[in-house]
Amino acid sequence: MTKNEIQVFKEQNPIELKAVQQPIAGDATLKNLLSMYQLSEEDIFDYLREAEAAEGTMPYGIDLLKRRSLLALMRQPSTRTGGSFEEAMTKLGGAGRYRGGMESSSEAKGESRYDSEVALATQNDIIAERTSEEYGPMFAAYAIEREVRLGHLERIVPVINAGDGRNEHPTQTLGDLFTIYKEFGELKGLTLSIFADYERYRAARSLLIGAAAVGMNVIAVEPTVAPVPADVSALFAPGQLITTGDIDEAMRRANVLWLGRNPDEYDGKDAFEKARSAQLAKEYAERIIDVDRLQKMPTDAIVMHPRPRRDELHPSVDTDRRVRDVAQMQNMIPMRMAIVARHLGVSILDAMKDTLE
Ligand code: CP
Repeated sequence: MTKNEIQVFKEQNPIELKAVQQPIAGDATLKNLLSMYQLSEEDIFDYLREAEAAEGTMPYGIDLLKRRSLLALMRQPSTRTGGSFEEAMTKLGGAGRYRGGMESSSEAKGESRYDSEVALATQNDIIAERTSEEYGPMFAAYAIEREVRLGHLERIVPVINAGDGRNEHPTQTLGDLFTIYKEFGELKGLTLSIFADYERYRAARSLLIGAAAVGMNVIAVEPTVAPVPADVSALFAPGQLITTGDIDEAMRRANVLWLGRNPDEYDGKDAFEKARSAQLAKEYAERIIDVDRLQKMPTDAIVMHPRPRRDELHPSVDTDRRVRDVAQMQNMIPMRMAIVARHLGVSILDAMKDTLE
């Protein structure tokens, strides 16, 4: 398989791609948000508090980022993430722009990805970017920071990872933790049961990293063909992560059941990936969450799914109040308001306090 521009870059410049993933360490201003590895437990709670404040402004919005602009660049398809970043910026009083794909851009005339990212940075104050390649948003952040260092670009434009291939989806995780926090008022000590492809489903990978950071107990229902990677399981304290094949037992013990889709869009022409997806489809078929299976869960537990969903969450469960996947989508807007505000150096929380004083 031929390597893309970003894979080649990553192999030749691993340190450069690490350098753009700075720890947030209490101050997100003008930093990139590329990976859950950048966040401590305290950092995660800073986003949750900011999202709570953002939620209070939802009916009318708040003019904190007037005349600032956000580009939601979805190089890979999206319904929720791109649209909610656009709406989040609009609710903050700025201009949110959604762009789906780059087919009509000068990349079609042979412009390099590097030059293209720099051009977009001249037009926007913050960029939320989704790529089909792993580390695509990190590459964009690297290009921007390098051009600032060289004195070509006047200012840093933070890059937010809106999903990079099979790697991570950190803003989905922050929104998911916000949903759980709203439901339970805490995170530490809750039991999160997950069923997903842990090697290709980026929202599951980011969620595991976040769950380890905030001290949640995880029961990972593992498909035989896509187990929890060793680098992720190493983040958990002894006993904090249990792996099993038994979804019913995982449901019985859950505060939260979180499901992910079979990400077969990554198969391409690869025989190994096709076989993996086919096996995964069988294992999903054995574990469909329907109205009968849902009775195994505690009455105060919730079910989450970042969507898009297929058969894993059967429509017969839609009327059960424990199924919170639509609330989960709604919660993404205040969380993405919180992210945009914090990374552009303003605080909705402080603005709300000032209004009350
Ligand atoms: N959950 C999620 O990332 O949805 P989209 O792919 O529609 O953005």
